[in-house]
Amino acid sequence: MNKLLLFISLVGTISAKDVSHEWESFLQEKYTPEVKTADSYRNYTTEAPESVQQFYHDNHINQTLAFVLKKKATYSSLDKAQMSIWDVMDYLDSLVDESDPDLGLPQSIHAYQTAEALRKDGHPRWLILTGFIHDLGKVLAKFGEPQWAVVGDIYPVGCKPHKKVVYSEYFADNPDSDSPLYHSKYGIYKPGCGFRNVHFSWGHDHYLYTVLKDHLPEQALYIIRYHSFYAAHREGAYTYLMDDYDKEMIKWLTLFSQYDLYSKDPESFDVAFLRPYYEELVAEFLPETLRW
Ligand SMILES: [Fe+2]
Ligand SMILES: [Fe+2]
Repeated sequence: MNKLLLFISLVGTISAKDVSHEWESFLQEKYTPEVKTADSYRNYTTEAPESVQQFYHDNHINQTLAFVLKKKATYSSLDKAQMSIWDVMDYLDSLVDESDPDLGLPQSIHAYQTAEALRKDGHPRWLILTGFIHDLGKVLAKFGEPQWAVVGDIYPVGCKPHKKVVYSEYFADNPDSDSPLYHSKYGIYKPGCGFRNVHFSWGHDHYLYTVLKDHLPEQALYIIRYHSFYAAHREGAYTYLMDDYDKEMIKWLTLFSQYDLYSKDPESFDVAFLRPYYEELVAEFLPETLRW
């Protein structure tokens, strides 16, 4: 048992941050071609850390359509806090400090790494900003949401889960599986209705989209809203719910995921040196504070 699992079993619980880091490390390995073979793809569900498997069990049995609609109603009012981007970034870093800093990168380092990798490749400023802020919806943890409603992969609810959704076997214990409608291929949706007309499992993607939807270009909002939808942008699933807009926009998810997953190298950044650049970038697109 590794140090993290030992810690988890002793404490009996894990924070959203811990699972987030474990899951993202797992995704990074799963989708890095040079370290994965065809065999390891077939076996990946048993290779993931126990905490990730437990996390997905909790996620898949609890994310019902009713649960998602309730969370959307709770958070669409954006009346939980008035905070700047920097307030949220600092909060997410403090989550790591409160547990064990060796368990994962502080959220701000992932933010800087993703953004700097995009900047190095000459991408436009709105995309660099997207890389910098894309995970800030994890502030949901501050509002008391359980880890399975903050981090991890997202997928449509109200229709049958696609086999390409990670750990899809766990959906058997989701109450929506007993509904003939919710368990049919299209469920409550029409073929080709477009992802924007589909309800997704609740997490940090849709929440941050809600916070920023009046402020950023549509491509940035699309990335933020669906960046955890790996079944679609990495596995090619759910094409039957896409419309022409999704077929055009999904390329941004594919591009972005390269930077989200593969920029987590040990290279350290002089955050104090970089911060003025990002302060200017944030101020270019976003107001001083936002409603959360
Ligand atoms: Fe994310
Ligand atoms: Fe990320």
